[in-house]
Amino acid sequence: MCGISGVVGLKDVSQLLFEGIRNLEYRGYDSCGVALMNKTRLIIKKDIGGVEEFYRKHDVLQQKSNIGIAHTRWATHGKVTQENTHPFTSRDGNFAVVHNGIISNYRPLRDQLKKEGYKFTSDTDTEVIAHLLEKFFKKSRNPEKALVKTLNLIEGTFALAFICTYLPGHIFCAKRESPLMLGIGDEIKFVGSDFNAFIDHTKNAVILDDGEYAILSRDSYVVKSILNEEEITKPITKIEWDSETSKKGGYPHYMLKEIYEQPQTISNALDLEPSGLDDVVKMFEKAESSYFLGVGTTFYVAKYAQYIFSELAQKFIAPISSDEFLSLANVNKKTLVFAMSQSGETFDTLSALKYSQSKGAKTAAVVNVMGSSIARMVDKVVLQGSGPEICVISTKAALSQMVVLTLLAMKLGLKKKVITKKAYQENLKSLKELPAIIQGVLNERSGFIHRIANKYCKNKNWLYLGRGIYYPIALESALKMKEVAYVHAEGMPAGFLKHGTLAMIDDDISSIVFVPPKAKKDLYESTIHSIEEIRARSGFVLGIHFTEQGKNQDLFSEELILPNVPPLIAPLIQLVIGQLFAYFTATSLKRNVDKPRSLAKSVTVG
Ligand code: AGP
Repeated sequence: MCGISGVVGLKDVSQLLFEGIRNLEYRGYDSCGVALMNKTRLIIKKDIGGVEEFYRKHDVLQQKSNIGIAHTRWATHGKVTQENTHPFTSRDGNFAVVHNGIISNYRPLRDQLKKEGYKFTSDTDTEVIAHLLEKFFKKSRNPEKALVKTLNLIEGTFALAFICTYLPGHIFCAKRESPLMLGIGDEIKFVGSDFNAFIDHTKNAVILDDGEYAILSRDSYVVKSILNEEEITKPITKIEWDSETSKKGGYPHYMLKEIYEQPQTISNALDLEPSGLDDVVKMFEKAESSYFLGVGTTFYVAKYAQYIFSELAQKFIAPISSDEFLSLANVNKKTLVFAMSQSGETFDTLSALKYSQSKGAKTAAVVNVMGSSIARMVDKVVLQGSGPEICVISTKAALSQMVVLTLLAMKLGLKKKVITKKAYQENLKSLKELPAIIQGVLNERSGFIHRIANKYCKNKNWLYLGRGIYYPIALESALKMKEVAYVHAEGMPAGFLKHGTLAMIDDDISSIVFVPPKAKKDLYESTIHSIEEIRARSGFVLGIHFTEQGKNQDLFSEELILPNVPPLIAPLIQLVIGQLFAYFTATSLKRNVDKPRSLAKSVTVG
């Protein structure tokens, strides 16, 4: 949700800023801009559109400067226009600010500043920061004091950075609830919304905590508390990710690359330190009540977790969408709230966790991004080790989380004696087969899915149907279709159909059904009944099923046949089909796959 990149160094930094915001574009890509310094004069360039186009159009690389800040935007306040693009300058042109988050009290602040003669050129909440800095600098003649004054006045959330003509070799930055970190190199310092802003240049990071600000120069940096301006000693975090894994590596889109990385990321999940998982299992055992927490895709991971915990550990745990958590959950000291998050920065999930902690609840999470806010705040974190996920559409992170949740359910089931040691070992064996089976499916079925997606890409409405644990798979697959292809897709339990939606079945609505293996007899048969209900009304059904059922032309209008696999991993394989179907529909419709309209990778606003 917006990306900030800042660099101060010895030589020209325009190229580094370009790389910084280009690597952060997945966080937002409506518009972008930079602020550079020519001796003691600020140069501001900004425009709507993507980073490459902007740099080319405005010849930004021709501007020489050894300090600069840049921003790529995902609009929250104000339309996508050049006027609303960051950076914003103060009235006197001496401060340039970039900001992520939402200043909740910007309206009264703006009204007051207007009365004092400050003119506003945008509809954004951010612009007040630039004017406040000027206002407070006039009194103190000290940019740091002006920053602290401003920070104490603004409410809401922020990760912000500014440069000013009064101290031209320094970047000032601050954080409250929006991620921000420093990159520490020799004779060069960076600030970024995440590691991707500087991972090519340094692996030494300092992760800012809420309520901290920092001042960076080429040779030094200092982190202080907003509250008392006292210096804080911060540890250096070594970034373990390899910058190469953040690159597209020959794939046309990050989404496809990340789908193809799943055999590896699942292996990584299976290789996680067992003691870390055991600690979480103990927390589940100890808790009197538990919730699964996530939003968007991770809510569907949470729903998957609900089914797998019920099946393997006979433990009913309610999943709650993070944005609804406060209205639904009853938490106390004996509650465990277990969250899922790829980014570790999602505002709704963070808020629900903070609320839970304020009530004394224990918290745990499976998170992909090390050093992220959720990873640091929970009592116990499982870092899933899926590597950077760049595409806005989550694929490998979600599937790997499902694997982690399956492992946790198995371990809990074993401890509770719901499953025997033998069953546990068999399940583990099935999970270990998953990477190779997914690899095979990717190699052998992609072409077919591509053809089917191309053939039906003009279909306007899809029902995604599944029963039992296939229901969250249907929900998540439908979300993939909506967000990447902009095609209406509704996930639903197959048994729910006859209670209303069946009335919709006609030529304008198609169904995709996730059929379980026949080994799951009841689930299989009831799913087939649902298909028959649709077929009896001449509805179109694309069936995704396993070879043992054989070809069944009467039952399906189209069918995608998968190899016979152990039932435990069957839903996870079907999810890969859902991902590919959405991807190829999107490419057939020429969608902007990695950066779908109106979306951002990490949603750090409420
Ligand atoms: C996934 O494809 C979506 N872009 C979105 O629903 C996402 O899963 C959700 O915003 C939660 O994000 P998180 O995993 O980073 O917390």
